[in-house]
Amino acid sequence: MLKDHKDWLLRCFECGREYEEEPISSRCKCGEVLELVLTKNFPKINDFDGVGVWRYSKTLPISGETQIITINEGNTPLIRAENLAFKEGTKLFVKNEGQNPTGSFKDRGMTVAVTRAKEIGAETLVCASTGNTSASASAYAARGGMKAVVLVPAGKVAGGKLVQAVIHGAKVIRVSGDFDSALELMALEASRRRDLYIVNSLNPFRIEGQKTGAYEIFEQLGKKIPDYVILPVGNAGNISAYWKGFSELKKWGMTDKTPKMIGVQAAGASPLAQLFQNGNDNLVKWDNPETVASAIRIGNPVSWRKALTAVRESNGQLLAVNDQEILKAQRDLASEEGIFVEPASATPLAAIEYLKDSFKKNSVVVSIATGNGLKDQGVIPVDSEKLPLVSNLKELEDYI
Ligand code: F0G
Repeated sequence: MLKDHKDWLLRCFECGREYEEEPISSRCKCGEVLELVLTKNFPKINDFDGVGVWRYSKTLPISGETQIITINEGNTPLIRAENLAFKEGTKLFVKNEGQNPTGSFKDRGMTVAVTRAKEIGAETLVCASTGNTSASASAYAARGGMKAVVLVPAGKVAGGKLVQAVIHGAKVIRVSGDFDSALELMALEASRRRDLYIVNSLNPFRIEGQKTGAYEIFEQLGKKIPDYVILPVGNAGNISAYWKGFSELKKWGMTDKTPKMIGVQAAGASPLAQLFQNGNDNLVKWDNPETVASAIRIGNPVSWRKALTAVRESNGQLLAVNDQEILKAQRDLASEEGIFVEPASATPLAAIEYLKDSFKKNSVVVSIATGNGLKDQGVIPVDSEKLPLVSNLKELEDYI
């Protein structure tokens, strides 16, 4: 049992060892990630009350007395993609997580993890990040009156995300090497110090916050479960979180259905898709992953076992799409539906090209648009000097 939340178990996802409080570095002694499990007093749908992530507070391991650190995260729109109709009778929805306070789904998890940090008296948050986690951690640290130390792979993080971390007042440190070395070497090492609280997605409180995306989709579809949920996979926390959310709705008797979970990686950073396609059971990590989708440029996903379980239990799949396909999907979503996402968030749409023939008639498909395109403008070639310039009405008429 968690010592301050008796209804909750904190245990290792792999070996089952139980903990009374977060172990240092938020990892089991065996090296695997942990999970939080509600063991009794299961919530009912009428317990959902309020707006956003904290609407689902009865499903979260935080007590009523704790000061909630929130910037109104969650409650993001589920948008029917009318123009990108890819198959007669199939309904495609985009869950626009880019409308969260710092522009990505990370805020759902961060509000819970940072509230937990507050609950246990932590003063400094630490994370390694491909960009969005650092932006989110920095904002929530500011909101909660805490410090944040963020470690980013040098030269590999989108400019807008770095700007966010800086403006929110975090200590931003570059690490030579990629995200995986930043996480393993730096954040975990740093978190061995009691005074630093790690807020990467291996923190199980973050997963609890992120699972609320599944509850929202269920409610937005009129208490229905979609047939497919497709989302990008980097460190593999979010797909695990969504699966936890959907599985809980079933376990708690709110529905008898779960969706097929489809995880999409960028071809240049696809160790999990490779494992799945080859039918293997152990991850072979990739050195030097490379893709335009910098958010998911990850070669050693820390929650790979959870993600694989999600995909196998749900009868889903893991696949990879290449950079060209990602950029085309990003452009299509922007120009056909008015939704501007960053490259990582366009991977589900790119994957639909491969999946659509397997969708059953009248399927409901939800694509998770994890992050806002405004954060990563560098991937879109716009030479402002080459845009038309007019100085009188005649010239304007010529152009229009
Ligand atoms: N999409 C976006 C926009 C992301 O920023 C990330 C992860 C993912 C998808 C993948 O989610 O890691 O849970 O599988 N970004 C992390 C970061 C790694 O540091 O911001 P995941």
